[in-house]
Amino acid sequence: MDKTGTHNRSASRFAAWISVLIASAAVAGSCVDRVSAERRGREVFEDSAYPNSRFNAYSCATCHRATPDERRNLVLPGAMLAGSTRRPTFWGGSVVAFQDAVALCFEKFMRGGRFEPSDDRSIALYAYLDSLASRPDAVQTAVPFTVSGTTSPPGAGDTARGQRLYDNACAYCHGAPRAASRPIPTASILPDDTEREHGVAQGYTAETLAQVFVEKTRHGSFLGFAGFMPPFSAETLSDQDIADIVAYLAPTLR
Ligand code: HEC
Ligand code: HEC
Repeated sequence: MDKTGTHNRSASRFAAWISVLIASAAVAGSCVDRVSAERRGREVFEDSAYPNSRFNAYSCATCHRATPDERRNLVLPGAMLAGSTRRPTFWGGSVVAFQDAVALCFEKFMRGGRFEPSDDRSIALYAYLDSLASRPDAVQTAVPFTVSGTTSPPGAGDTARGQRLYDNACAYCHGAPRAASRPIPTASILPDDTEREHGVAQGYTAETLAQVFVEKTRHGSFLGFAGFMPPFSAETLSDQDIADIVAYLAPTLR
């Protein structure tokens, strides 16, 4: 199954990115320029203004570590990126070109419009990410990313464990439960928005409402779901982890 829909693009845009990179390297030449491009690329990595979208509050760093030692306590939906420029496939094998893997994030999550690999910032970002490939902790092999097509209602959960998981996997976007102000302002107020939109009036039972939390966590905006929340794979959160989070967030549902 292609978990991401039909997002594979032709190889030509990738080739275009690479040729622009080679051309700019030839013009720029010096080591100093390369180092400053890498530094600029790190800024782009952390910049939510990179996609030029007034709807976007994400930077690449919201969802990805560039190196394994960053924000170790957090459960991030995206793969660690040191080595990613050299990986053979992306998105669990469903995307074959690095550029298309980035374009998917840029266009789908950051709503940045069409990804432009020849933009100065895209070139700097590539230079930065590629500079990480020589680190000893870089991962140059494909990273597993398993998304199951179907979900079940969550089993019984441990609320104390669920709170710790929520703090590390959800709060960096959603803030605390019921928080008026959230790190990503467009992220829903949990669990209130979900309970309101998926209540008895809309035909939900406690069990199917609980499953909405699982569905959203597993699929984000994929597999028929609207929005721009990223999906959490089986490698990042287990079914029990999600059951614990639901037990903490919406204890009356279990
Ligand atoms: C809202 C969260 C989110 C944002 C923002 C985001 N990504 Fe992603 N990204 C993901 C998820 C989820 C995946 C799929 C899982 C995976 O393979 O990492 C992914 C996949 C990737 C991959 C493929 C990794 C692999 O080995 O399969 C690359 C490369 C990537 N993103 C780069 C970027 C860059 C560069 C940016 C910033 C321009 C960015 N992403 C922004 C969530 C995000
Ligand atoms: C990278 C940021 C990000 C992370 C991390 C994240 N979310 Fe979200 N989430 C969003 C955004 C943005 C929305 C609103 C847009 C949408 O529905 O996609 C949302 C929406 C939701 C909704 C739908 C609410 C409704 O309106 O019915 C649920 C449920 C949810 N998130 C649960 C979670 C849980 C549980 C976690 C932790 C495991 C989590 N989210 C982690 C960004 C995030």
